[in-house]
Amino acid sequence: AAIEKGGYDHFMLKEIFEQPQTIFDSLRGRLDAKAGKLTLGGLREHTDLLKEANRIIIVACGTSWHAGLVAEYMIEELCRIPVEVEYASEFRYRNPVVGKGDVIIAVSQSGETADTLVAMESAKEKGAIILGVCNVVGSSIARLSHAGVYTHAGPEIGVASTKAFTAQLAVLALIGLKVAVEKGTITEQRFQHLLDELEDVSDKVAIALELNEQVKKIADKYKDARDFLYLGRGYNFPVALEGALKLKEISYIHAEGYPAAEMKHGPIALVDENLPVVFVATKDSYYEKIVSNIQEIKARKGMVIAITTEGDQIIPGMADDVIVVPEADELVAPIISVIPLQLLAYHIGVLKGLDVDKPRNLAKSVTVE
Ligand code: G6P
Repeated sequence: AAIEKGGYDHFMLKEIFEQPQTIFDSLRGRLDAKAGKLTLGGLREHTDLLKEANRIIIVACGTSWHAGLVAEYMIEELCRIPVEVEYASEFRYRNPVVGKGDVIIAVSQSGETADTLVAMESAKEKGAIILGVCNVVGSSIARLSHAGVYTHAGPEIGVASTKAFTAQLAVLALIGLKVAVEKGTITEQRFQHLLDELEDVSDKVAIALELNEQVKKIADKYKDARDFLYLGRGYNFPVALEGALKLKEISYIHAEGYPAAEMKHGPIALVDENLPVVFVATKDSYYEKIVSNIQEIKARKGMVIAITTEGDQIIPGMADDVIVVPEADELVAPIISVIPLQLLAYHIGVLKGLDVDKPRNLAKSVTVE
């Protein structure tokens, strides 16, 4: 097992550190930024169906559902197609209104999640086109799809998903870009810019991984907290949800992820000097807004841990702890900003002496409902 872990203490840490490679592998052969080209062989003629879709419905569970939420922001921005993101378990049981003209994208690491499979089956019977974004070649979900794009994250052993998530984000960005360029809903400059951004993202993830020792110190400082709040806006809102999920799974600390503005409608009541609040606050079109959300937390004596962008002059003066990640376009930023959150959950779990690769009560793949 020590050999399989490649010198790392746990599979989870190994998989976190594999991300520069697994993101690269998921883009390789598809993205050619120099030539300004994008090829998704797995979509074939379905690119046209996607382009003409009335609506895209993303079905998934767990971390894959969070990737779907990021994709909602991406696809709506790039393709101007309405996107809904559904928990597969809810979608399947409510006799959903779905049919011809709808495209379902099932997102799944394992390709075997029972609820996601059944959700796809019922939408397929009703005439929708089904695309799969899976990590396991030949899995049930891959076989049930009309077409799809594989993530190439390699086998994920740690129960808490890490590298599959960032690979999903990369692939979903490619799908959004492909449809946008075919549909003509993106300018040539923005298309080229995003291809360049995706080309650079693996290197930026590698830089974010250099934060490991710093994040470990922060983990040590906050490991005894009873609750955590994770806040973000826009593209970083699903990242906040994913950060909270990672912490719950691995450390058994109660954590909630919320859209930062929505905290005023409830979670702000929890804020006192004992509550760490993690802000995913990289430089994007929501930046000014999130700065005022940080002020609101500080005014109530909450402890703020902020994920910020290089060169930020404001947030470091407000937060208790600052984790600085490389700058990126807001559409690809989640691939980078989730890295310190994965590391934070990992280190808190390890510092608490827990089995981070096999957290209690959780399964890698939920093949029963
Ligand atoms: C389980 C795993 C999660 C995963 C979810 C969905 O809960 O523990 O890590 O995100 O299932 O799995 P899938 O294989 O469909 O992505």
